[in-house]
Amino acid sequence: MAKVKTKAANTSSEPQIITTDILIIGAGGAGLRAAIEATKKGAKILLIGKETMGLAHTEMAMGGLNVAMQPPATPKQHFEDTINGGWKINNYKMAKVFSKEMPDRIRDLESYGVKFDKLPDGRYFMWASGKQTVPLNLCAGDYTGREMMQGLVREAKKLKIPYFDNYFVTKLFVKNKRVIGAFLMDLKSGKQLIVAAKATIVATGGAGMMYRINTNATTNTGEGYAWALNVGAQLVDMEFVQFHPTGMAWPPEKKGRLVTEKVRGNGGILKNKLGERFMAKYQPKRMELAGRDEVTRAIYQEVLEGRGTKHGAVYLDVTHWEKGKAEKLIPDVFQDHMEVGIDIRKQMMEISPSMHHMMGGINISIWGQTDVPGLYAAGEVTRTIHGANRLGGNSIAEGQVFGRRVGIQTAKDVKKIKPQSIPEKLVAEEMKRLEKIAAKKSGVQPDDLFQKLQTVMWEKVGIIRTQKGLQEAYKEIKKLQKETKNLYAKN
Ligand code: FUM
Repeated sequence: MAKVKTKAANTSSEPQIITTDILIIGAGGAGLRAAIEATKKGAKILLIGKETMGLAHTEMAMGGLNVAMQPPATPKQHFEDTINGGWKINNYKMAKVFSKEMPDRIRDLESYGVKFDKLPDGRYFMWASGKQTVPLNLCAGDYTGREMMQGLVREAKKLKIPYFDNYFVTKLFVKNKRVIGAFLMDLKSGKQLIVAAKATIVATGGAGMMYRINTNATTNTGEGYAWALNVGAQLVDMEFVQFHPTGMAWPPEKKGRLVTEKVRGNGGILKNKLGERFMAKYQPKRMELAGRDEVTRAIYQEVLEGRGTKHGAVYLDVTHWEKGKAEKLIPDVFQDHMEVGIDIRKQMMEISPSMHHMMGGINISIWGQTDVPGLYAAGEVTRTIHGANRLGGNSIAEGQVFGRRVGIQTAKDVKKIKPQSIPEKLVAEEMKRLEKIAAKKSGVQPDDLFQKLQTVMWEKVGIIRTQKGLQEAYKEIKKLQKETKNLYAKN
């Protein structure tokens, strides 16, 4: 492939060209796990991400990973809870593979130095979240994602896996119906990069930032779904969006921030402004540990009917916990509240639902293959095991199972594929498209569009949806889509 010159002011140098076996886009739990496995199987990897290594969204996971690590949990029970939690419209084959392989994936993480909480007798400390019939959640305090990411990063560094941070993919290249690499831009310098790859794995996480109130990292902007769709892959179950029942409701600067389900899983109680334990009315058997969708709808109803706090929330109470329990069990939640002057040992938390997870996504096989040759995927950007409602603890877990699997599959496939080169014409077209945006002197600010989208999604494609609301949202989003033609990039 010839080098192509660009005319844009902020991209004055020629794009660098890199050739690799496997390009992995996204360095969260699934992307890192795929990179580790493929490297161990002998493939040449380039891992890229939008953030500093170790700071992808997985890092924010709190409560744990589900696994049948010790009695009374069994893989069969884990499978059944997953299916029942998802209202039985899950992918059963994937859920079976997942629950069976999870214990080995925990042993892998431990071999990377990840430390999970243990009891004085040496057994794991495990707890049950909503709709779990046995304790399945294995955790490290309420910073499980951080602990896990540190281990994965340690292993990736040990294997000397090349990582480019702060890169954004603008396009996947396709030749003869095969994905052959991507066009990237350094988010800080504007420097352009072309990667030619025999296999491309999309592991970009979810799209929480579509919603005004969410628990997600700001990098969860959903572009992985768009690339996949643009190159002909299938997206499935996209209507299944999970709203976590307990996001911080107050103060405004913390709005949406996750308050882990570990609180309710260990005796936290939900109350309305009248002091009523309202879950008794909605789910008298499971109470606070009903499905996330059920608890979220109950909170929504309480607030709608006027029994919410003045901040449109309900209370989550742990003031009855014994001395020291809050600091020990949920140190991050404790600290998050202390920072804003709320001592959760003495004062109830105010919480309200917050968009949390996309259960649908790119359609993949149990080995991470999409419908498009050369394109693979793993993690939240895919549809795997969750059905219509994900169990807390099943997300960062499934990323380990299917991340490893796609690493194995791609490492095997690239042995049969010739090195790829990107046709000059495709590169020139993409550069022209970007130059046009960069050359604009005025137009619509991306931020304005973004905020409008977040509002429409929150108000009309949220917890409760109606035909009328969805039709209105569709029209508004179509209008926003038109406005994107006039985007103006300030820098
Ligand atoms: O509540 C939580 O800690 C979230 C866990 C999850 O979504 O898996």
